[in-house]
Amino acid sequence: MTELAIIGGSGLTELEGLKITNHQVLKTPYGETSSPIIHGIYDNKSIVFLARHGTKHTIPPHKINYRANIHALKQIGIESVIAIAAVGSIHPDMQPGDLIIPHQIIDYTYGREHTFFAEDLSHVTHIDFTNPYCEDLRNRFLNASDQVNFRVFSQGVYGITQGPRLETIAEIDRMEQDGCDIVGMTGMPEAVLAREVDLCYATCAVIANEAAGRGNEQITMAEIEANLTDGIDYVRQLLEKVLQDY
Ligand code: HPA
Repeated sequence: MTELAIIGGSGLTELEGLKITNHQVLKTPYGETSSPIIHGIYDNKSIVFLARHGTKHTIPPHKINYRANIHALKQIGIESVIAIAAVGSIHPDMQPGDLIIPHQIIDYTYGREHTFFAEDLSHVTHIDFTNPYCEDLRNRFLNASDQVNFRVFSQGVYGITQGPRLETIAEIDRMEQDGCDIVGMTGMPEAVLAREVDLCYATCAVIANEAAGRGNEQITMAEIEANLTDGIDYVRQLLEKVLQDY
């Protein structure tokens, strides 16, 4: 089995059911990871878990040390990364509680440390990012989704905004015209950093709310949290199926 890590997002700061064997605090050239790296057994598979927003969910999307997180996972021999992300839905068919396995990304973030290829270069590197996600891992999710009785969309374009505020209606209209199906704040630069160090990386997104102007007049944290309770339960069920075949 390849060494597998799960990066948990909002609603998933700890992985219920994970039998923890070790907490590891790692130094990286980029500083501290969001949380200690937790080693454990989940569904009879040994995995590691990292809480992207910190163990107490205190790190906002634009302050996450994405480079430290990805570097640390690479450093300990991880080969594949499953990223869990709470998102808003732009596509009208996608509703709170649905899961999406995105196939494409549009990056609207700015000012984040977004590459390992910035300093001390012997030559300039342009990595291929035509297909930003690892097809093998995406396919594992798609196969697993045949075995569950909730909705899992097999593809979607994930637009990543800077946050921490949510978007305006006009911004969501523009993102829809661009082709985005879902909107979140953490998909980049995490995905590209993973690609830069050759990690097989895929995202399982869970819809926490309809994006601005697509549902309720206002988006409240209470609404997001309530929807995530069901959604995260679906994520766990899907992960269980993915890990069975791992
Ligand atoms: N926009 C951006 N990020 C999000 C949203 C949203 O509506 N919901 C959850 N994360």
